[in-house]
Amino acid sequence: MDILLIGAGGREHALAWSLSASPLCDRLFVAPGNPGTEQHGTNVVLDIADAQAVIAFCRTMGIAFVVIGPEGPLVAGLVDDLKQAGIKAFGPSKAAAQLEGSKAFTKDLCAEFNIPTAAYRRFTDAQAAKAYIANHGAPIVVKADGLAAGKGVVVASTIEEAQEAVDMMFGGGFGEAGAEVVVEAFLEGEEASFFALCDGTTALPFGTAQDHKRVGDGDEGPNTGGMGAYSPAAVLTPELQARVMREIIEPTLAGMRQRGTPYTGILYAGLMLTESGPQLIEYNARFGDPETQVLLPRLSSDLLTALLAAVDGALDTVSLRFTDRAALTVVMAARGYPGTVEKDTAIHGVADAEALPDVLVFHAGTRQDGDRLLANGGRVLNITAMGRTITEAQHRAYEAVGRIDWPEGFCRGDIGWRAIQRERT
Ligand code: AMP
Ligand code: GLY
Repeated sequence: MDILLIGAGGREHALAWSLSASPLCDRLFVAPGNPGTEQHGTNVVLDIADAQAVIAFCRTMGIAFVVIGPEGPLVAGLVDDLKQAGIKAFGPSKAAAQLEGSKAFTKDLCAEFNIPTAAYRRFTDAQAAKAYIANHGAPIVVKADGLAAGKGVVVASTIEEAQEAVDMMFGGGFGEAGAEVVVEAFLEGEEASFFALCDGTTALPFGTAQDHKRVGDGDEGPNTGGMGAYSPAAVLTPELQARVMREIIEPTLAGMRQRGTPYTGILYAGLMLTESGPQLIEYNARFGDPETQVLLPRLSSDLLTALLAAVDGALDTVSLRFTDRAALTVVMAARGYPGTVEKDTAIHGVADAEALPDVLVFHAGTRQDGDRLLANGGRVLNITAMGRTITEAQHRAYEAVGRIDWPEGFCRGDIGWRAIQRERT
């Protein structure tokens, strides 16, 4: 069948790599894609925010299946629009994508269905939120309700800091996303991510990962979209994973179904592993970036078959297989990221890096200019490696990083440190 993949990042390169390897995949188109996705399919210029343009493209090219990477089009309802046009698409409906699109929606769902998460209150008024914070004390967490490109959360260590965050959000700091604010209790523990492939009724575990959100070594400095990730996250033991399925994922699926808005797609749960057990920090209604770059290299069964079964409500007939090898990805970013970066600097050595065994280079913010590869964004390359252990995967990944010749780029030198510390003991 012919497939259209929507998105342009490292996640989409990994998805394109995996989808194009399927025996069910004939032609793969990627909109807009990047030089990495172009190795596995055909990039097309298409306004992915324009559902009618996407539908028209699908009709012209005879696309049988659309896979949507980023949250924007999901929250805007692209899956509903495609479905209405008779085109199969992977991802949640607009109603179900609220699990990512609205923090207040998710907190209310957790409250209704007894899903463990931090205690919270919703506010549409700054005065009331600030009074609540003063009363509650710090540390405390302030979140803009809507999509804020991963930046809508302030973990405040003082009352003043939390109240400033409230003013900033209601003052339009995150635009419409901050029209409502959620204030929640601070959770202590180690963070980990759990993924489940869902067909509305059945959820299949799709792997675990941990990422590094801070820009600098030792998890210091400003937050980013993610500077690296690895899978599996050993901290999520089989027992804890079973608990996450039973206490968090399955009640979410049941609740969404009961409300008449079943969840289909990949459900990405950000968890805090607290003393009293796993608690939900947030849901994403899509694959993670860069988590996908470590999940998919570990998947040994066919991705496309699994995604189709999810859309067809047939996951009970599918079994997913994963290798027990580890994967680790190091994000190479342009200097200045997550602030302003210089564009169009030349990158060399990608083929040399890829020539190493067990190494994959996924493109994120790159651009091809004739035979030159140029940086074209903040996060630019994802240098991914496999190994028997995270320690071995890390070693290979940094060996590959050493072969990339890009003076204007940088990366963290300690991706995987938590897991490596754990493997040492
Ligand atoms: P989110 O965008 O909801 O994933 O939040 C971004 C980051 O803020 C998370 O990855 C956590 O590190 C932190 N965070 C969010 N909520 C809490 C909480 N209730 N307690 C402690 N840290 C939190
Ligand atoms: N790496 C975090 C995310 O994809 O949201």
